[in-house]
Amino acid sequence: MRVLDEDRLAECAVALSSQLRLADTARAFDGVAREYHTSNETNRILRHMRRRSIAALRRHVPAGSTLLDLGCGPGTDHPEMVRAGYSVTAIDASPAMAREATARAASMSAAGRPMVSCHPIERLQELALEPFDAVFSNFGPLNCVHDLTDVARQIHEVLKPGGVLVASVIGRVCPWEIALYLSRGDVTRAFRRFARSPVGVPLEDGTVWTRYRTPGGFERTFVSAGFARRECCGLGVVAPPPYLSAFAERRSSLVETLLDLDATIGQMPLLRRLGDHFLVVLQRG
Ligand SMILES: C[S@@+](CC[C@H](N)C(=O)[O-])C[C@H]1O[C@@H](n2cnc3c(N)ncnc32)[C@H](O)[C@@H]1O
Repeated sequence: MRVLDEDRLAECAVALSSQLRLADTARAFDGVAREYHTSNETNRILRHMRRRSIAALRRHVPAGSTLLDLGCGPGTDHPEMVRAGYSVTAIDASPAMAREATARAASMSAAGRPMVSCHPIERLQELALEPFDAVFSNFGPLNCVHDLTDVARQIHEVLKPGGVLVASVIGRVCPWEIALYLSRGDVTRAFRRFARSPVGVPLEDGTVWTRYRTPGGFERTFVSAGFARRECCGLGVVAPPPYLSAFAERRSSLVETLLDLDATIGQMPLLRRLGDHFLVVLQRG
């Protein structure tokens, strides 16, 4: 019988637990896939954030470019990407989300229709794709990967030299969340994002395993993989996070003002490091 040494056993245990977490996360998103696009579209905070991430994509990626969308969900961004003139390939680990995105693609005209597959970001290289001009990942798929260093290496491989990654990533320091939960006396929830290990975030009946990132830590990982930072701003620095959508409907004019302010304040030195998400653009060397 072959005896595994302790290091090898520890590696196997880590690999197994990250696969189990990915399966949990995909199952949780399966459970909400049917209504996800509608909840994306009806949430005014998300709509505002989405406009900003798509605007960054358009600023850095010219029409006619090939684009890989990582963790595409139900394909809410795809009509806008096609209108911008991109040729879109998309992956998502949740079979139900990939089905929703495929159905959305089928409703578009054949020319420029996105190609969607159910596939995890962690195994990008297995797809043996032709290199892309740009990679996009909106609203946190990169928070769900276990080994960001390895994923950064795979994204580098799948980009052409000079190609860009545009990603919105869930941040660690969300001022609204800290203030909200401290005011309710819930210190654990107020600082939940400060955990270094993955946090099991409930989503309906499932669990999304999430690693909260700081812009600095995220950028350093990609710089080590051969990227340079092009820009970074905060999303939801002074505006509330998207899960406060009911509050946003009750106080719509206040929230619209905060969302407009957010677009300016989220660019300011130091403040841009805060927020529910951060939006980062990195360029492959
Ligand atoms: C918050 S949703 C965002 C979806 C979409 N980008 C959007 O803007 O609506 C996160 C998506 O990432 C997917 N995801 C999470 N972890 C993933 C992984 N490791 N590989 C591929 N997709 C993943 C989920 O299934 C889910 O559809």
